Amino acid sequence: MEILQIRGGRRLEGSLRVQGAKNSVLPILAASLVSGAVSVIENCPALRDVEASAAILRHLGCTLRREGSTLIVDSGPVDRCDVPDDLMREMRSSVLFLGAVLARTGCASLSLPGGCELGPRPIDLHLSGLRAMGAEIAQEGSDLRCRTAGLRGCEIQLTIPSVGATENLMLAACRAEGTTVIRNAAREPEIVDLQGFLRAMGASVQGAGSATVVVEGSRPLTDCCHAVLGDRIAAATYLAAAAASGGDVEVRGVSYRHLSTVTGIFSEAGCHVCSEPDSVRLRSRGRLRGVGPVHTAPYPGFPTDAQAPVMAALAGSLGETVFVENIFSDRYRHVRELRRLGADIRTEGRVAVVHGVPYLHGAQVRATDLRGGAGLVVAALAAVGESEVAGLEHIDRGYEEIETVLAALGADIRRKESIRKDPDLYREGGDARG
Ligand code: UD1
Repeated sequence: MEILQIRGGRRLEGSLRVQGAKNSVLPILAASLVSGAVSVIENCPALRDVEASAAILRHLGCTLRREGSTLIVDSGPVDRCDVPDDLMREMRSSVLFLGAVLARTGCASLSLPGGCELGPRPIDLHLSGLRAMGAEIAQEGSDLRCRTAGLRGCEIQLTIPSVGATENLMLAACRAEGTTVIRNAAREPEIVDLQGFLRAMGASVQGAGSATVVVEGSRPLTDCCHAVLGDRIAAATYLAAAAASGGDVEVRGVSYRHLSTVTGIFSEAGCHVCSEPDSVRLRSRGRLRGVGPVHTAPYPGFPTDAQAPVMAALAGSLGETVFVENIFSDRYRHVRELRRLGADIRTEGRVAVVHGVPYLHGAQVRATDLRGGAGLVVAALAAVGESEVAGLEHIDRGYEEIETVLAALGADIRRKESIRKDPDLYREGGDARG
């Protein structure tokens, strides 16, 4: 079992170019299925979740080739519409293949990605939207069987601006007859990036980034080339590591506008933040201070995915910070592990109260989910002494060579095989979805 061994207390300094966004590339890979043509996807990060998507595409009949950070998908040869359970289980966003497979083949047979480590994650909005477009969907236990004689454009009002539902419906709508209007759509930058990809393949999609997305279906779809957006959550994580370690770090390849709620927190905590259109530099000015309440919210609010890394940075602050997690009901699992590093954090329901401590200390901890795991790395970098972070199968889902990126900034971090066999700490598994 691999672990990250981190000797904390090093000041991070330097400049990095952030990876392509996990939450963009996954819907884009599903979208590549829809065209039946060749998609050249640049700035594609090498992540476990990307491999999982690639495995699904290959199973469906696509051919894939990687050339450096470019992934080339030919979805011409698709010859099946089922996704086996083990591939569905690899990650939550496999659900995006529902809209894509259905749109492409007229049928889809797959299983629910199910509950996961952040609390229940229903897909009722995905299903009701697809039904409104003319899909027949039968559910037996966790198996979904979907078919359609032809999807039709329609008006869909989402009750929650769900990222996944918005993306699934956009994919299906590209092959539907007529116009689809998605109201109360998610406004995340990754939705805008998906729109960019769909347009590049010839689809007519407007409005992404606003609450109304309009897709005119049945346009001829062709070969295309698209570069994936920079990852604002990975960027937020590296800025959190800089803030926690008293550092000075520039993150390039990400829009400062996509990070404004996160950088606003670090400014309030006492850091100097300087933004260019596609880079952000954070300079720490000593120990962080506690900040006003941090409420997670759909974009343009503070991202739930940045909650754990930012909380980890503030664990060693002067004063108190209250977090309110409004998106997922069980997203404080990292708190127990942060406490092992010496953090003083109490949780009750959706609220977590961080009392800053003078210093964190090294400990053995285990990632229980992707962003929580990133939070543990941030805390360990700031801690006095040596830490070991296990559960890398979660972190590797969303961070491309996290140890290489951080080591280049001066962190004392290495990936190694663990020789310990603490059954509780290093237990395998957990749910890899997210
Ligand atoms: C996406 C991101 C994830 C991020 C999340 C919120 C990807 C691959 N994942 O996940 O990293 O944490 O957005 O920004 O992009 N909901 C329903 N019914 C539905 C769908 C969602 O009730 O049919 C609820 C969820 O339980 C949750 C909220 O809506 O409480 C937001 O979920 P959603 O935006 O769909 O998140 P994901 O697309 O799963």
